[in-house]
Formats: sequence, structure tokens, C-alpha cells
Amino acid sequence: MRIDIVSVFPEYFAPLELSLIGRARERGLLEVNTHDLRKWTHDVHHSVDGPPAGGGAGMVMKPGPWGECLDELVPGPEVPHLLVTSPAGRPLTQEFARELAAEPWLLFGCGRYEGLDQRVVDHASERMRVTEVSLGDYVLFGGEVAALTVVEAVTRLLPGVLGNAASLDEESHTGGLLEAPAYTKPAEWRGHEVPDVLRSGDHGKVDRWRRDQSLIRTVERRPDLIARLDPGTLDERDRRL
Ligand code: ADE
Repeated sequence: MRIDIVSVFPEYFAPLELSLIGRARERGLLEVNTHDLRKWTHDVHHSVDGPPAGGGAGMVMKPGPWGECLDELVPGPEVPHLLVTSPAGRPLTQEFARELAAEPWLLFGCGRYEGLDQRVVDHASERMRVTEVSLGDYVLFGGEVAALTVVEAVTRLLPGVLGNAASLDEESHTGGLLEAPAYTKPAEWRGHEVPDVLRSGDHGKVDRWRRDQSLIRTVERRPDLIARLDPGTLDERDRRL
């Protein structure tokens, strides 16, 4: 997969050299290019923003630099899926990350201030798919952390990136539920024990215990997820719980 990221703070993306994302890049599973939006400015101050039309607080990113940037990065005929970060965008979910992981080329446009002039999105939509993406219902200073998060959520779904693909399998097995609590050695630590069932060696019992814990946790912490559950994924025992 190819990923391009345009931002006024390309330094934000240094962590993409590290850990499993860095390794995926070294292994050629992922190509990441970061770009400084100010490269496409022509005034001495390299300004990228202006006051909002119609008045109001904050600043809006000017369309000019974005337009030139997209012209240069996307000469065609291949086009990326353009993802513009915005708190007004489609919320990032695991399902959305899965959709994005199937794409050959993602281009992130990181908004700052009050976001991009809407015409950047409208114009780009004439020749490529554009989706505004939100990290969640809160406001950040800008979209850089949102872009980093999407890149991480997507990269770990790319074939060959995770050493143990079974962990992805297990995630999808929980099918919209939170995962059960996890433990490791030692069996007793500061007066707290690993639950007996996890030391029983009975895989059937362990699976059932984890399933119960997933359901209990989800009911307690995320009733919204329970409401969205496909009833077909629940077995008899789930229902009794
Ligand atoms: N920019 C500011 N807040 C944001 C959010 N919640 N998601 C994506 N981009 C943002």
C-alpha cells in the first residue's frame, strides 16, 4: 500500500519510522511519503490560512496550496482515496479501517485551524474519492494525530504485517464485543491471582470464559455496541448471560 500525508507539520509523522510500521516499510509492505503543505505556497510567509468568509473565529486553510499540492501528487491516471481529517468526518471504526486496508493508495490531507476551504474537497471529488474522516467526537488542534491513528489501524491489517495473523482472527471473533481481560505469569502477583480457568488447560472452558467476560464487559462499558450487535452472532448461552 502507498500512503501520502500532507500536513503543515510533517515532523508529526516521525514515529512512522518506528516499531511494526517501520518494519512494514522496510519490508516493502508499505510506502509512506510525507509532504509539507507550505511547499505549495508562494508568498514570503508561506501562509496557508485566511480568515473565514462570513466572519467568525479561527482561520480556514486556503484552497490554493491544497489545489497545487493535489495537482502535483496526483497527476493521474491513478488516483488515491483522499482522506481529509475533520471532526465532522466519518468516525474511524475497525470496519472503516478494514475498508481502507483494501485500497492501494491513500492520501491524507491534515486539516488545521478551522479546517480546509470546502472547495478543496468539492474540487478533488470531481476526480477522486474523497472521505472526511474523524477520530471521534472531540476536537483536536489538527488532523495529524488522526492521520497517524488511521495509518496505524490500517497498517496492522495489511497482509504480512502482523507476525501472528491469528490475533486478527481473534479480534474479528469477538465480533463487535470488547476483548476479555488478559493475564500472564506469574500466577499470583501482589495478592492477585490469574483466574483458575485460564490455568486449567481446558481450551473449551477458556473460550467460554473469555466469551462471557467479553459480553459482561461490553454490557457494562459499551451498551451502544450491544445495541448494534447482529443477533445472529449470539448463541444460547450468550442470551442466558
Ligand atoms: N481535527 C480536529 N479534530 C479532529 C478529529 N476529532 N478527528 C479528525 N480530525 C480532527
